[in-house]
Amino acid sequence: MPQIKEILQTMDYGPSPEASDHVTAWLEKHSEGFTHFIDGAFVSPENVEFFEVSDPARATPLGCVAQGTTDDVGKAVDAARRAFRTWSKLPGHTRARYLYAIARHIQKRERFLSVLETMDNGKPIRESRDIDIPLVARHFYHHAGWAELIETEFPGHAPVGVCGQIIPWNFPLLMLAWKIAPALAAGNTIVLKPAEFTPLTALAFAEICREVGLPAGVVNIVTGDGRTGAALVEHPGVDKVAFTGSTEVGRLIRQETAGSGKKLSLELGGKSPFIVFDDADLDGAVEGVVDAIWFNQGQVCCAGSRLLVQEGVADRFHSKLKTRMETLRVGSPLDKSVDVGAIVAPVQLDRIRELVEKGKAEGGTMWQASTPMPENGCFFPPTLFTDVEPSSTVAEVEIFGPVAVSMTFRTPEEAIQLANNTRYGLAASIWTENVNLSLDVAARVKAGVVWVNCTNMFDAGAGFGGYRESGFGREGGREGLYEYLAPVWEKGLAKGQPAAKPDLSALPAERAAEGAAEGVALATSTPTIDRTAKLYVGGKQARPDSGYSYTVRNGRGEPAGQAGLGNRKDIRNAVEAAAKASSWGGVTAHNRAQVLYYLAENLQTRSAEFEARLASLTGVSPEAAAEEVGAAIRRTFWYAAWADKFDGHVHATKSRHVTLAINEPWGVVGVVCPDEAPLLGFVSLVLPAIAMGNRVVAVPSASQPLLATDFYQVLDTSDVPAGVVNIVTGESDALAKVLADHDEVAALWYVGSAEGSAAVEKASAGNLKATWVSHGRSRNWLSASEGQGRDYLRHATQVKNIWVPYGE
Ligand code: NAI
Repeated sequence: MPQIKEILQTMDYGPSPEASDHVTAWLEKHSEGFTHFIDGAFVSPENVEFFEVSDPARATPLGCVAQGTTDDVGKAVDAARRAFRTWSKLPGHTRARYLYAIARHIQKRERFLSVLETMDNGKPIRESRDIDIPLVARHFYHHAGWAELIETEFPGHAPVGVCGQIIPWNFPLLMLAWKIAPALAAGNTIVLKPAEFTPLTALAFAEICREVGLPAGVVNIVTGDGRTGAALVEHPGVDKVAFTGSTEVGRLIRQETAGSGKKLSLELGGKSPFIVFDDADLDGAVEGVVDAIWFNQGQVCCAGSRLLVQEGVADRFHSKLKTRMETLRVGSPLDKSVDVGAIVAPVQLDRIRELVEKGKAEGGTMWQASTPMPENGCFFPPTLFTDVEPSSTVAEVEIFGPVAVSMTFRTPEEAIQLANNTRYGLAASIWTENVNLSLDVAARVKAGVVWVNCTNMFDAGAGFGGYRESGFGREGGREGLYEYLAPVWEKGLAKGQPAAKPDLSALPAERAAEGAAEGVALATSTPTIDRTAKLYVGGKQARPDSGYSYTVRNGRGEPAGQAGLGNRKDIRNAVEAAAKASSWGGVTAHNRAQVLYYLAENLQTRSAEFEARLASLTGVSPEAAAEEVGAAIRRTFWYAAWADKFDGHVHATKSRHVTLAINEPWGVVGVVCPDEAPLLGFVSLVLPAIAMGNRVVAVPSASQPLLATDFYQVLDTSDVPAGVVNIVTGESDALAKVLADHDEVAALWYVGSAEGSAAVEKASAGNLKATWVSHGRSRNWLSASEGQGRDYLRHATQVKNIWVPYGE
């Protein structure tokens, strides 16, 4: 026993364990095993297969939990479907009352939930008590507010239906709150599967649902491992899948749900940069690293795991960091003075060890604090790697453990380049006292969340979610609610017969004749078209790589012209041209608006010509042609008007901070246009995309591509910079597949058949691009609600949330 005098001299902490009797008693009460919560009740334990969950810090079992079968999932989905009928119809205010009640109950049971979370997951009680559980309550309060406001703030939107939600083990109850609160607020019902390592707080939450009298079936919890998750994803009764977890499983889920019509949001991994400039407050930045990578033992998807330190201060920074690392206390997570707790499970510990060994073998210099380590349980010491190559495994792969990897840079340019040198794009943290530099870097870093002089800050009012292979969709705030709502117009679309496809099977024969035929014999009643319409790439007309073209027929089936038969190479060239035109995203919104107004005026000037062409090519009446051209002109003006008005939000989140939610363009967007409405369909999709600063590779109507190829003359005369709109004609589905496979294409819209939609979604799993497909449903392009609107602008952007210091 140290003497008081000695304690005062060393200022060492004594153990300060949090009481856990109430949790132990609760676990004992359930010693026969925890079962699923379905239709408002815990199912009976007969014939249930159980698996054990344990406390990773003590390596002791906590209880047994049911392994959900396909049948269990089916029952839960059925219950959720039944409950949806009434829950979705309740006034928002009534739903809000339930959400408030849940929030209150969570607050009342804060101590219990924190201890349970810490025992199940291994995270320090300081974190579960001060961060996780208060944020859970905050999430329900915030979304109770949204339930109250949903009708007025989201007009024209309806709940999606039954949501299948799958969550990971790193923030078990917080991830549950992120999923359940917005879904309930919007009027959906839920089947949630917690992670197999950490299902206990979800089951305690089920008890809270019962206590507040939430109607049966509105929330269902089915426990189990990946097989249970897969059964939930596959269930045809699920309308939306929301997943947080590894990129590998996210990719599987994208493939599995392809073509099913299920709405999908994915929050996946990261390797987020933590950038320290030479003018940063280095002591502040060191504390930042502690929060970035040793928070929750580094098992955080947005952990600042890649330190990028400016060369001039790197040695000083690393030495300060090592000094601080020596003071981190690793040990029993229930001890209130412990900073670093246990790793969630032995398998995860092995994974960390393996990656660290690899880092050493690859030449990185590893340093670990001399902090005493517990003898038993799943622990790993805070670790720092320096002298690391950007291409080494530890610099590229998500370690998901308390391991920081540090690299140096010389200039801000190099910092940005290194920061973006990853397949992920979840978060970034920037440390500098120079406001210009911080905001310049914040704008250029490819990440969904950016923290300036702070890190790992979360709030229910701000959106959270990634760019690139970190997934798509946002959780939290106004933008997160859209993941649980569907525009009424889109829900109501009929499964239509898409217009007849051009018969490209006849191509080989025509190809043979084609050399001679830059001018097929045309029927006298059609306007003379004596040339093959070329592709339009990088602001220039381009011959198709294949050298082939195909015959376009008019409404009477007569040959009306030739269009280039684009292929994989043409798409690649078009994407390259679009990628080069990146300055379009950087010009002022006013400039983009001006270009679009000019485009609208030029289209207007040539309206008679377009009307005649439309009538002769499609066989519609002159009145119908005039209506379509008139709508295309008005729509162009409409998007010109929106170009400088589709603003983001400023979220009031934490004190001394403000969070800027900025609508950013994706970059290169692939747009596969409908076969019908050859001019209006094209305009309706291409215009919102470019109005928001994207560059587009468009595949126009396959049967009537000539309206789009005529349109490039209008683009030419309207100061649309080269590469902003590229047009590749040909077989839509084949070209869509190439766009879906292409890594440089960040988002892809496809309007066409159900099979084509499925193929696009499946192929997009490669780089996890965001897709927006029609599933074979036809749209009334003339309608101002179906053919245009804010939904188009929303799909044309992704939200970046930038946290900046603000106020006292
Ligand atoms: P995981 O992605 O396998 O697990 C996450 C959730 O998905 C769990 O509930 C799991 O049961 C479920 N799941 C697994 N396979 C599924 C399938 N085929 N269909 C539907 N659901 C399925 O993550 P895991 O194996 O626990 O951790 C492996 C790595 O993933 C970690 O080392 C870390 O790098 C990363 N990870 C990232 C997370 C994040 O928040 N981004 C969270 C958890 C893990």
